[in-house]
This record gives sequence, structure tokens and C-alpha cells, in this order.
Amino acid sequence: PRSIYLTRHGESEYNQIGRLGGDSPLSQNGLKYAGKLQEYFEKEKIGELRIWSSQKIRAAQTASTMAHLAAHVEYWKVLDEIDAGICEGLSYEDFESRYPKQFAERDKDKYHYRYPSGESYEDLVARLEPVIMELERQSNVLVVSHQAVLRCILAYFTNQRRDDLPYLKVPLHTVIKLTPKAYSCQVEMFKFNI
Ligand code: F6P
Repeated sequence: PRSIYLTRHGESEYNQIGRLGGDSPLSQNGLKYAGKLQEYFEKEKIGELRIWSSQKIRAAQTASTMAHLAAHVEYWKVLDEIDAGICEGLSYEDFESRYPKQFAERDKDKYHYRYPSGESYEDLVARLEPVIMELERQSNVLVVSHQAVLRCILAYFTNQRRDDLPYLKVPLHTVIKLTPKAYSCQVEMFKFNI
């Protein structure tokens, strides 16, 4: 049976200091994760593995470590993280103190909340529709992307409610393996200790 593998990029410099978005490179821990991921896929020995990565540096660094294991590596802008607009580069604390009303609004309805000059989860779901259609048709694919994007993809394949989608657990340094079954997907999570 074919599987879809989802992973966030390894820990980035921005993850380390708790900032949203941006385009920072991997931290030392993130580089270690890229190495572990490579070992994992070497052992899995997947035929015709395709890797689809976002175009952010942290994702491309993670994906490129595995390039030799894959039939194709592609970098898709549609897999880039949610655009946090005016909040890009802020920490959640900065966000709350600079834009308290916005922060409260997001908390009230995280799915529909759109960052000024940025995106909402609802926007993301629309942006990701073509990728999801393509994933439905493909054989084995590893998607290297970001927290919000992967929540949308995971929610689709596991039939989650819209209100739960923005809160799904997609931790760093974890591979989520989805294997389609008759009416849903089997979900396995592999957490790597870094
Ligand atoms: O903090 C990492 C990150 O990928 C940010 O770039 C992004 O804005 C955020 O997670 C999405 O998570 P949430 O919607 O819970 O803020």
C-alpha cells in the first residue's frame, strides 16, 4: 500500500526563539533531525519516493538532505507556511501586546481569522486544494512543510472538523505516516529524539 509522509522542517533558528514565519535556516537541532530523517527513509526503502517541499529555506534544507533517496524532489510555493502578514517575525507575546484585539479575535475563531496583509486557515485550505488533489493521485510522497499547512493536509485525510483543524498536533521532529484504508487513513506518528 502507498503512504503519504508528512513532516515539518527541522527546528529553525526562529523556532528556537519562538518567532512566527520568516525564512530562517535550520538550527543545529534541525540539522540533526534532517540526518535522522534521512536514516529513517533509508530504512523504509520506499519505491518511487517523491519529495515535495515548500520553498522556505528551512524546508528546502531538510528536504535536500534526502534528495539521493528520491525519484523527484520538487519545491512548491503553495507548501509555504501560513502568511502571518503584519505578525511575521513577531513572537506570540509581541503579537498579543502590539495587537491585543487581533490576538483575541484569532483566539475566538482561529480557523477564519485572517492576519492583516496575510492569510487565514480558511485561505490555506483553498491554497492547498490542488496539492491535496495531487496527493490523492500519487504513490509514495513525503511532504516537507510547516505546522499550519500540515494541519490542513492532515485534517483532510483524517476527516477532522474545521474548528479542530487549527489545533491539530503536528510537532517538530516527527514523521506522520498516512496510509489510506477503505474509508479513512491509518495514522502513525514517529517522534525522533534529538
Ligand atoms: O511557529 C511556527 C509556525 O510554523 C509559524 O510560522 C506559524 O505562524 C505558526 O507556526 C502556525 O501555528 P499557529 O496557527 O498555531 O499559530
